Amino acid sequence: MKGIILAGGSATRLYPLSKAISKQIMPVYDKPMIYYPLSTLMLAGINETLIISTPRDLPVFRELLGTGENLGMRIDYIVQEKPNGLAEAFLLGADFLNGEAGCLILGDNLFYGQGFSSMLQRAAGIKKGACIFGYYVKDPREYGVVEFDANGNVLSLEEKPDNPKSNYAIPGLYFYDNTVVKKAQSLQPSKRGELEITDLNKLYLYEKTLKVELFGRGFAWLDTGNCDSLLEASNFVETIQKRQGFYVSCIEEIAWRNRWISSVQLEKLGNELNKTAYGKYLLDLLANH
Ligand code: DAU
Repeated sequence: MKGIILAGGSATRLYPLSKAISKQIMPVYDKPMIYYPLSTLMLAGINETLIISTPRDLPVFRELLGTGENLGMRIDYIVQEKPNGLAEAFLLGADFLNGEAGCLILGDNLFYGQGFSSMLQRAAGIKKGACIFGYYVKDPREYGVVEFDANGNVLSLEEKPDNPKSNYAIPGLYFYDNTVVKKAQSLQPSKRGELEITDLNKLYLYEKTLKVELFGRGFAWLDTGNCDSLLEASNFVETIQKRQGFYVSCIEEIAWRNRWISSVQLEKLGNELNKTAYGKYLLDLLANH
C-alpha cells in the first residue's frame, strides 16, 4: 500500500492569508499541518508517499520534507495544476502507484484517538475493495455523507447534501485496492466541474466492496478549514501534549518506533533541533526508552 497526500487547492476560507502561504504549511500548534496527515500514513505502516500540491506550494513541501530519507521513507512530489477534484489524485498518482493499492489523505485532515493505529493497519491490509470511515457530526452538510441500514450496510453516499440522510460525515481518509486508478479514469467531472471522491467511492459501493468503519465518540477528527477550527485544532494538540507529555503526530518519533530509522538517526534529528522543545522531546525519547 502506498500513500498520497493531497495538499493543494485553495484555502478560500482562510483568505487572505492563503494568498501568501499554503494552508497545509501553516502550523497546528507546534508543527506544520502536513505533519498530521503524513503521520497518519506512517501509523498505517505506509512508507512510500506522494505529495500533490499546487505549482506554487509544491517546492515548499519539498524543502520541508525532502526525499523522506531522514525518516526512512520515500517521498515523491507531483504538481496539480488546478483543483480538479480529490479523485484526480489517482490520475496524477498513477505512475507512482504503479499497480499497487493506495491510500489518499487530505492535507488538512487531523485525526487523533486510541486504537487509531490498529484501525489504520487493518484498513491498509485491504486486498479487494475500499475502506472509508464515518464520523458523527452535528451538521454534516459540508461533507460527504454515508447512510446505513440497521445492520450497518451502506445504503447511499452523497456529497454535501442539503438534506443529509444521516449525521455520519466521511473524513478525508480513503483506502483503495489496486483497481482505484482504473476506476478514477472512468469518472466524469461533476456539476461543479470536479472529479468527486464520492463518485469514486460509489463505484466501490455499486460493486459491493465498500467498507465503512465508524470512529467512536471519543475520537477526534478535526477540521482546519477556517480560522476558528484552526485555532481549536492547535488548542487541542497543545492540551494533549502538555497534559500527557506525548507529542501528537511527531513524524520523527513514529519513524523511530516503526524502526524505519535507528536511535543514532533520531539523535541526529534531535540535535539539529536541540534549541527547541520539539528537538528536546526527540532526545528525551532516547533517554527514556
Ligand atoms: O474533509 C472531508 C471532506 O473532504 C469529505 O467529507 C468530502 O466528501 C470531500 O469532498 C472533501 O470535502 P471538502 O469540501 O473539504 O473538499 P475541498 O474541496 O475543500 O478540498 C479538501 C482539501 O483538498 C483542501 O485542503 C483543498 C485540497 N484540494 C481540493 C481539491 C478539490 C486539492 O488539493 N485539490 C483539489 O483538486
